[in-house]
Amino acid sequence: MAVFLTGATGYIGSYLLAGLFDRGIERVIVLARDPSPERLWRAMQLHWDEATFRERLARIELVGGDLTRSRFGLSAIELEAIARRTTSVLHCAASLNRKSERQCLAVNLKGTLEVVRFARTVPELSRFSFVSTSAVAGERQDETVAEDRAIDWERRDYDPYARTKKFCEHLIATELPDVSRLVFRPSVVLGDSTRPETTQFDMVQAFAYFAQRWTLPLRRHHRLDIVPVDYVRDAIVALHLKDDPAHGIYHLSAGEGSATFLEIVSNLSEAQGTARPWFWPWLKAPFTWYIRQLARAHGTKIARSAARLEVFMPYLTNNTVFDNTRVAAELGRRPAAFSDYSHSLLAWSLEHGFRHPHRELGGSPSQTTATTHAEKAGPPAAPDTESDAPSGPNTATDPDEKASPSVPPDAETSP
Ligand SMILES: NC(=O)c1ccc[n+]([C@@H]2O[C@H](COP(=O)([O-])OP(=O)(O)OC[C@H]3O[C@@H](n4cnc5c(N)ncnc54)[C@H](OP(=O)(O)O)[C@@H]3O)[C@@H](O)[C@H]2O)c1
Repeated sequence: MAVFLTGATGYIGSYLLAGLFDRGIERVIVLARDPSPERLWRAMQLHWDEATFRERLARIELVGGDLTRSRFGLSAIELEAIARRTTSVLHCAASLNRKSERQCLAVNLKGTLEVVRFARTVPELSRFSFVSTSAVAGERQDETVAEDRAIDWERRDYDPYARTKKFCEHLIATELPDVSRLVFRPSVVLGDSTRPETTQFDMVQAFAYFAQRWTLPLRRHHRLDIVPVDYVRDAIVALHLKDDPAHGIYHLSAGEGSATFLEIVSNLSEAQGTARPWFWPWLKAPFTWYIRQLARAHGTKIARSAARLEVFMPYLTNNTVFDNTRVAAELGRRPAAFSDYSHSLLAWSLEHGFRHPHRELGGSPSQTTATTHAEKAGPPAAPDTESDAPSGPNTATDPDEKASPSVPPDAETSP
């Protein structure tokens, strides 16, 4: 049995790859733009020591491919051979760049179409799972959204990311009607409830920044739906491998257990040894105006950060959470509360300057045993100059910006 997995070099995808092996999966076919063992090691060292990584590499087929290219840039013969070895598809890769419609269309929409086309050629496809987002619910205010009431084509979407993910869900349902399908919609995925280490810092920096302000333009009793990544992993892996899940769509979220801003910020202020900010929601309009002006100062670091915060603000102020009754019933438990582990997450992130201490893969790449298709698919795609750097593990392009919570952080990462 081989799972075809996209996005394994990213934050959530790395958890899924580790989780699949933990559940006894024999073989995983990993599609990655950079299919080198060194690139995968950057993501997987959060989960495995080097010996385990090398042992698992023998069971990973690394395929060099770009979602934005037809057949991922592979030849028809190569892809056909991969299809014959595949028994299920777990599509996690995406662009989370809310500022670039072009990138969201190319990676999310065209990329998902390519994955769907590939899935159609898999002779023995037992399951197609798609990692979507709770953001497909569009603009909401003061709601608890249930899975079947989330998609509303009349409703405005927050950004191109949410819009393209919504259309991906539609595409999969339309093009794979006869396939056993699962759609997972995580809310804000932030931290691991079982340990403080992380490779994704955008949101941790955001909260560190918020907790250091004198005032916040937020309502203290508004809730923010945050779910730990270990719960997301457990749910996706268990349900992807389950013969008969009760539903086709699952929110992976804190739901009614979501913390309020007062709880979140109090906890984080305490972790930083700072006074808790005042909540002045009437500052929302001037604050929004201010970050919009800052965002117009093109090219500067603060402008880039402000532009991202501008996009992210609606997600913070909508007081909307996502019902998690379905997944809680499947797993027999709800996710850990953010306040249970946020303190240690922030303390660890501060201690490490908002960077994961990276270890190089020892020994030469030729000693590894993974099957790679790097040459066949050509070099990784050139960086998108219009857009921001990818938000995968350790992809910080500006160490100063990543290392300090003193400016509004990059808010690419969210539902
Ligand atoms: N993080 C959250 O809070 C959150 C919340 C809700 C839903 N989600 C969903 O969870 C999934 C994973 O998110 P994440 O936070 O783990 O993101 P991430 O760390 O940015 O990882 C994105 C992954 O997609 C891959 N990718 C991007 N463009 C690609 C392309 N053209 N071809 C092939 N692969 C490509 C990246 O590969 P490279 O290493 O080559 O860049 C990386 O492996 C996404 O579908 C996202 O919508 C995330």
